[in-house]
Amino acid sequence: DLVVLAYSGGLDTSCILVWLKEQGYEVVAYLANVGQDEDFEAIRAKALKFGATKMVIPDLKKEFVEEFIWPAVQANAVYEDRYLLGTALARPLIAREMIKVAKEVGASHVAHGATGKGNDQIRFELGAYALHPTIKILSPWRLPEFYNRFQGRDDLFEYARMNGIPLPVTKSNPWSMDANMMHVSYESGVLEDPNHQAPDDICQMTVNPEKAPDVPEVLVIEFKNGVPVKVTNKTDSTEVTDPLELFLYLNQIGGRNGVGRIDIVENRFIGMKSRGIYETPGATILLTAHTDIEVFTMDREMRKVKRSLDSQFSEQVYRGFWFSPECEFTRFCINKSQDSVEGKVTVKVYKGGVYILARESPFSLYNEELVSMNVQGEYNPTDAGGFIKINALRLREYCRLRENSA
Ligand code: ARG
Ligand code: SIN
Repeated sequence: DLVVLAYSGGLDTSCILVWLKEQGYEVVAYLANVGQDEDFEAIRAKALKFGATKMVIPDLKKEFVEEFIWPAVQANAVYEDRYLLGTALARPLIAREMIKVAKEVGASHVAHGATGKGNDQIRFELGAYALHPTIKILSPWRLPEFYNRFQGRDDLFEYARMNGIPLPVTKSNPWSMDANMMHVSYESGVLEDPNHQAPDDICQMTVNPEKAPDVPEVLVIEFKNGVPVKVTNKTDSTEVTDPLELFLYLNQIGGRNGVGRIDIVENRFIGMKSRGIYETPGATILLTAHTDIEVFTMDREMRKVKRSLDSQFSEQVYRGFWFSPECEFTRFCINKSQDSVEGKVTVKVYKGGVYILARESPFSLYNEELVSMNVQGEYNPTDAGGFIKINALRLREYCRLRENSA
């Protein structure tokens, strides 16, 4: 049987590759380029050396930004108040392309190296089943014949040695990482103790805020339909409009100013809590700016409805239900809500912070005259007294009746 293996080039998936061959599978290796910093050609050579028939490395960066990160920006997507979903957003894209490759090469199976305890197994597999209902999935870390053979890291090292798989030359980091152009995440290993502080130099995309420049950078971010269409750096007049370049540019700005680092404990879909450290520089700037232009341009009550869709969307993405009727629906509605989310937000980026300085929009619902202290306009202040009294009716009754019954 032919299997497409999501191959990272690391120790685990290299051992899985060799093990699948031992079980009699022909293996096509697959690695999605979602903007992680990697030597892709070295990984290709490795896959071929360990017996893959071929290695496919599609460049998915543009699709990642336009089809996955932009909807998340429109949705102000955040899981459990803090996590911007960098891994969760990339998984459906990686799964979609994996299924495309499986169909092209005529594979009956797909395989991945996610553990049996996490979210990623769920996301890969829900995506795969949703797009290819008859696909068979091999998840070695859930197969007794695999996990009984590799009970500790030492078994894996021994197997690697036997099969000529190079062990990491430098002592590898005592934690696991997942990197793409939106974020880098760090979990497990020494980070499993939630009270153990991560080393200062763990992050790769961002500098420590204390080490960031003493001079702020000021950006004008222009939105149309709730997505950024132009960024202008007022400090050095840089201008970017291409979606991919624009996002990478915001990563650079956020990165050198230490923006978007968090250390959290979160609830995995599978039912356990886990501790993770994340750095999400560009998307953190966008979340701040987008929220501002949205409140400026959207009706208050409409936004309440939209916010509940946002949280549904975030939950759907975290749990791996990108390709589902409910998530298609939330994306459709959220996109529709962004029709008039348009305009320019000026932000200052400085030592880990993103500060809003100003905003303007052709669709602003802000009426300077109405809100002003000096002008009356159509607003009659005496009406406010009645408005307050009617609203107080319930509160007064509550007080009176409670006092009577006491
Ligand atoms: N906890 C995060 C999530 O569920 C990050 C997972 C990181 N994945 C990884 N294979 N290291 O989205
Ligand atoms: C894994 O378990 O493979 C990584 C963490 C996760 O999927 O949540």
